Amino acid sequence: MIQREWEAIRERRKANAAPSVRFFDAASGLAIGNRSALAEREFVTAFHELGYIRFRQELKGWHYEFAKDRFAQDSMTPSRKPVALVTGANKGIGFEVARAIAESGYVVLLGARNPTTGREAAGMLTSDRLDVRFVELDVTRMETISAAAARIEADFGKLDVLVNNAGIADSHDGPPSRVSIEVMERVLRTNFLGAVAVAQAVLPLLRKSHAGRIVNVSSDLGSITKHGDATWKYAHVKVLGYCASKAALNMFTVQLAFELRDQGIAVNSVNPGFTATDLNAHRGQQTVKEGAAEIVRVALLEHGPSGKFLETGGELVW
Ligand code: NAI
Repeated sequence: MIQREWEAIRERRKANAAPSVRFFDAASGLAIGNRSALAEREFVTAFHELGYIRFRQELKGWHYEFAKDRFAQDSMTPSRKPVALVTGANKGIGFEVARAIAESGYVVLLGARNPTTGREAAGMLTSDRLDVRFVELDVTRMETISAAAARIEADFGKLDVLVNNAGIADSHDGPPSRVSIEVMERVLRTNFLGAVAVAQAVLPLLRKSHAGRIVNVSSDLGSITKHGDATWKYAHVKVLGYCASKAALNMFTVQLAFELRDQGIAVNSVNPGFTATDLNAHRGQQTVKEGAAEIVRVALLEHGPSGKFLETGGELVW
């Protein structure tokens, strides 16, 4: 039944049917209007429950409209566009990266842990007519990583760009003499192991791209050379968990770039710079657009350098 009605909805969409259709009387809940209203009511109710349809109240009663982002999320239409996956993209720098890559003509898979915030974020971009689809992805949960990779495989058969953006800072993180092992484990699990796990899962799909790219969103706080310089402006920021997680991520960049050097897949670390986001209670000086700029540039760069640590305006020391 569901499948049949789904097909019906698809047919209507194909025929370019009006996206918004008169449906219920607000007070009685009874279908009004056309002859097939009752049948329509049945499937609208079913599809509303599944999230494919939204109700909207207007003067004359309730109307429904197709939830375009939900359709997009199910990737009903295969695409010949290049495909990018951005992790942790429901807000902050990742959201901006997703927007900019989509604006360049890519299908962007917007990875997020939380389906509600993820769908909302994808919806904001699809309402700007961008091809952005929510993918549930918690980088610390292997089952979501495998499911996301399987879905990309089924829908597109390849992946052109992976932006490992998901990351956390922990308020209990601290100096090397006393930071708790538990806190460090948590930070490393997301910022380092999460990025490795996602990259490993989608690597077979990146190999199918003509110019696969992995951008690991790192930080200058991950630079061992900078930390060794007592005069560096961030020398006092000795939060071992976060800094070690980004240093480890950089090691992953260098080693994976080496391993893939003959396979046409570029792997780079990018430092977005100190950017106002939830991660730092909006103390960063840059806007998210500025923070996203170098990540986006490197993500879109086909046949560019590999094994580099980059930031706006140049290269960083490891
Ligand atoms: P944010 O807190 O606004 O965004 C982080 C994103 O990662 C959120 O969408 C969050 O839901 C997601 N995330 C966290 N844990 C996750 C998990 N287990 N699975 C999936 N997603 C998860 O912070 P912001 O600033 O946008 O951070 C983005 C990246 O930029 C992070 O990797 C961060 O370390 C890095 N960065 C940020 C800087 C800044 O000044 N804001 C500076 C240098 C690096």
